[in-house]
Amino acid sequence: MVAVNVAGGPLASQQADTLVIEVSEGRKRLTGAAAQVDLALGGVVSEMLRSGLIRGRSGETTVIPGRGAIGATRLVVHGTGGEGGRTEDWVRNRAGMLGRALRLMDARSVVVSTQGATEFLDPETAARALTEGFVLGLYRFDKHHTKASDRPSGAVTSITLCEPVASKVAGARRGAAMGTALAEAQNLARDLGNEPANLMTPSIMAERAQELAAASGIECTVIERAEAERLGMGSYLSVANGSVQPPKFIVLRYRGGGRGRPVALIGKGITFDTGGISIKPALNMDRMKGDMTGAAGVIASMQAIAALQPAVNVLAIAPCTENMPSGSATKPGDVVYAMDGQSIEVLNTDAEGRLVLADGIGYARSENAAAIVDVATLTGAMGVALGGVRMGSFTNNDRLHAEVERAADTAGERLWRMPMDREYFDLIKSDVADVKNTGGAPAGSITAAKFLELFAHDTPWVHLDIAAIMDATSDSGAMVKGNTGRPVRTLVHWVLNRAGVRS
Ligand code: BES
Ligand code: MN
Ligand code: ZN
Repeated sequence: MVAVNVAGGPLASQQADTLVIEVSEGRKRLTGAAAQVDLALGGVVSEMLRSGLIRGRSGETTVIPGRGAIGATRLVVHGTGGEGGRTEDWVRNRAGMLGRALRLMDARSVVVSTQGATEFLDPETAARALTEGFVLGLYRFDKHHTKASDRPSGAVTSITLCEPVASKVAGARRGAAMGTALAEAQNLARDLGNEPANLMTPSIMAERAQELAAASGIECTVIERAEAERLGMGSYLSVANGSVQPPKFIVLRYRGGGRGRPVALIGKGITFDTGGISIKPALNMDRMKGDMTGAAGVIASMQAIAALQPAVNVLAIAPCTENMPSGSATKPGDVVYAMDGQSIEVLNTDAEGRLVLADGIGYARSENAAAIVDVATLTGAMGVALGGVRMGSFTNNDRLHAEVERAADTAGERLWRMPMDREYFDLIKSDVADVKNTGGAPAGSITAAKFLELFAHDTPWVHLDIAAIMDATSDSGAMVKGNTGRPVRTLVHWVLNRAGVRS
């Protein structure tokens, strides 16, 4: 994994194999630290800018030998395109792209100027976004390729963000530390999500959670089937009926808030979703190894929370199980009882996420949670509504939603609030039980949320449906093909903000 550090002092003398400066399209003159590097190299960069050999177009990379005139073996001049529309998210994505370009060039130790980002961001935010972009963009999941030739070559092992202005170094250091904690947590979520279902069973997830707890000094409790039965988690357990893998209801506890009520992060943990008796078609069913992305996200978030130590109590709840068909599986029409006593008619065993979440939410309420945010790859309909750009958000509480939306903005993980009108509930009224687990095709993501709302009762609650953003089909910016690990940074920022940490 790449380590990101911050250094003060002049850019030109930094020791590394590769030094990076940025140039914007249309700017003919270098300023600040970049101008000093140019001067040390006898003005070759400005000469190339004047003559049009370097244009600064987005993604353009020009390599210039260092010739002993600068601390680095080579200089990479990285084009960043026109100067409109620059945001924190732009910096993050650009760093991700740059990281992969540097890896292709076999760079190992890299020094990057913070100059471009600090022109419009405070030093802390700039360093955080750069760090996140590099750590996220350089992620890859290649552990199951046994032949080295099948793995992309190269590994950037250290990146130094150079901040020549002494008064900005401390802020940049804070930003890099926070960015590292956030992005490494997101990469952990990606690792869990990318692992195939035979190697990420509920039992393995529980082991991983226990290892994380031991390493981070937080508590982990795994509720086994018998205990879940005693607690009345009939809704969650009904999903596990068809599987030979024992279900594991994972709870992580971070105590930073004394006697205060905890906030709860709940993640859907279906380690593989076949659909059960209402079985899914074969095409692309492998994608359902990612149906535990919500659980992965809440578990991984605790790694960053434990590292950043906010003054708040946090519960991460991950009800994990496979959803399989078998002679013992739940059948369409079965009626099950959730932990809070409400009855559910299971009309479609493929609408299993809401069944495990009902008891996840019930458990959070039994722990006196002050606020609940759940994360779930819940409905295919989410992709129909919003595509892979934004996650859908649903709530019973405007204030809590505003908090989560602010955190999502900071993270650059966009959400869109969906409606929760009372009439949508009519679609999931059951003839035989308190509620049925599907309302059919119309407003499929909303009826799923209305189902969950029933179990949140009066506890402030936000539901994030991440079905369409759980994986990426290609490398782009800070995103890498495969599981995206979203929305870990949103969850962590929300928890930090709850503790009064500005982020
Ligand atoms: N895990 C799926 C949703 C999903 C689909 C996630 C595609 C990621 C990508 C969920 O359990 C499911 O099967 N939902 C059903 C609900 C329906 C039966 C009411 C769906 O979306 O079809
Ligand atoms: Mn399903
Ligand atoms: Zn599912």
